[in-house]
Amino acid sequence: MEGTLDSPARTSGGGDIYLPRPATLLSVSAMTASDAFFELALDGPEDLGHLPGQFVEVSVPGMGEAPISVCSSPTRKGSFQMLVRRIGSVTQALHRKSPGDKVGIRGPFGTSFPMEGELKGKNLLFVAGGIGLAPLRSAIQYALDRRGDFGRIAILAGTRSAAERLFTGELLEWKRRNDLTLLETVDQPSPGWAGQVGLITGLFGMLRLEPGPWAALVCGPPVMYRFVLRELRRLQVPSREVHVSLERRMKCGVGKCGHCQINGLYVCQQGPVFRAGDLFDLKEAL
Ligand SMILES: Cc1cc2nc3c(=O)[nH]c(=O)nc-3n(C[C@H](O)[C@H](O)[C@H](O)COP(=O)(O)OP(=O)(O)OC[C@H]3O[C@@H](n4cnc5c(N)ncnc54)[C@H](O)[C@@H]3O)c2cc1C
Ligand code: FES
Repeated sequence: MEGTLDSPARTSGGGDIYLPRPATLLSVSAMTASDAFFELALDGPEDLGHLPGQFVEVSVPGMGEAPISVCSSPTRKGSFQMLVRRIGSVTQALHRKSPGDKVGIRGPFGTSFPMEGELKGKNLLFVAGGIGLAPLRSAIQYALDRRGDFGRIAILAGTRSAAERLFTGELLEWKRRNDLTLLETVDQPSPGWAGQVGLITGLFGMLRLEPGPWAALVCGPPVMYRFVLRELRRLQVPSREVHVSLERRMKCGVGKCGHCQINGLYVCQQGPVFRAGDLFDLKEAL
């Protein structure tokens, strides 16, 4: 379901793409000083019907709406999850919400990681910088829930500091599993952090990739991509096997307002998940 530059992917969960569907917050919990974790369910019998890597437009009445990735896997039915960093008006309003409160949901929108397509059967290397772990977590959970469909799994995760580590309970679970490799780093040392210190690119030197078809799934801050792609080239992962999720300023989410455009490319429709090789010629994309 990943889009190519010629073929935008599915853009809506059905119905009117401009009409938010009501959803109820099932749980709200602080994850770091500026990140909160939400579990929610659409009102009514339908599931969200998203694919890993897709996002929804979340609206708070009277405040507006913001694009947020779904951070849970569609293999886990009945509810879905989001990790929201407090940035401005909409995300602050979301942080003030409590279980039982309502929000509006449009979508799911955008392209996805092709878990059921070309990634099936491959070894998967996830590279998550900071909040980039949120959209990748959906694909990681998916791969773990269908473990037999994939080869080796390796996850590289980096944050600026130990206090900003996300999904720490799950990181611990992943670390304990013997069917995946998790390597973590933080940019700055802090008391109590006994793990690796340095940029995420430093983890590549510790990776031992067995021979075989590897694909990489990458999401992080804009500055990270160029350096991670260089490491992936060094490991001989072909650029057609590198799937990156790009975040750009978005408004409508459905290809109408032009806010997300990079040189004529509509990230909300033709992305957010792209094949890295498709972006090399687009200035400002990576
Ligand atoms: C496809 C996609 C997926 C996303 N997934 C997530 C997610 O899973 N979790 C999450 O917390 N956020 C995610 N974001 C970012 C999120 O959409 C923005 O943080 C949000 O729109 C901010 O809205 P606001 O009303 O709170 O802030 P605003 O009031 O709109 O902005 C406040 C300030 O923050 C700046 N700002 C706003 N948005 C961004 C941005 N994207 N990057 C940098 N600066 C910004 C503005 O310039 C302004 O200075 C995603 C964005 C996209 C495009
Ligand atoms: S967000 Fe409006 S065109 Fe992409």
